[in-house]
Amino acid sequence: MNLTLKVWRQSNANTRGRFETYEAKDVLADMSFLEMLDVVNEGLIERGQEPIAFDSDCREGICGMCSLVINGIPHGGHRGTATCQLHMRHFEDGQTITIEPWRAKAFPLVKDLVVNRSAFDRIIQSGGFISVNTGGTPDGNAIPVPKTDSDLAMDAAACIGCGACVAACKNASAMLFVAAKVSHLNLLPQGKTEKDRRALSMVHQMDAEGFGNCTVTGSCEAVCPKEISLSFIAKMNRDYGAATLKGK
Ligand code: SF4
Ligand code: FES
Repeated sequence: MNLTLKVWRQSNANTRGRFETYEAKDVLADMSFLEMLDVVNEGLIERGQEPIAFDSDCREGICGMCSLVINGIPHGGHRGTATCQLHMRHFEDGQTITIEPWRAKAFPLVKDLVVNRSAFDRIIQSGGFISVNTGGTPDGNAIPVPKTDSDLAMDAAACIGCGACVAACKNASAMLFVAAKVSHLNLLPQGKTEKDRRALSMVHQMDAEGFGNCTVTGSCEAVCPKEISLSFIAKMNRDYGAATLKGK
């Protein structure tokens, strides 16, 4: 395949960005999207030009580092697929592909397609942990956890913290991310002791970071590579409301 790429280039947060056009030639259907960008970058380096900066690490849908808004959709719009898992067989010869960074006030641009997602780290630092002493590794049957709770906690724990939910939301809301992180601990016995404090701290930190409010458009769930359910937002709202009423 031969493709035309329109890529957002911006030296840093203080300069104006622009779209630059690049030709990606002889792209194989079995290449991943990031491998295709690697090849484009090799060509740029050979010609003495600045390579396109983009984030990636595991390249197997685990770490949450990859991003990219591809043709207007975070991670490219294939259900349950992170950018690093997206393959070029989903594109057609001669197609033009637009590639942009996550755009949200709380994710300031670093360079080209790289944004700073430290706001997520600070939300986790505010309450996404268990600090009570839960002892050594318990026997599997010593703490009975209802199957529905353990399944839900595992579903929530699948969140990789990529930020696509924020990038897709017209309000740049981080509710799906925060709801997943609050819920996966609040659902389990070890996490219940700090349940109220966790919900309050993480929601307050989310607001302090400048993320917008949720208006339940569902765009976050639609682009989430881990298919985190919108229902976790309702659950977090219940946890937050209960904690507020208790005055904790
Ligand atoms: S909820 Fe989904 S889209 Fe949002 S950070 Fe977690 S994995 Fe990424
Ligand atoms: S690079 Fe790790 S999830 Fe995509």
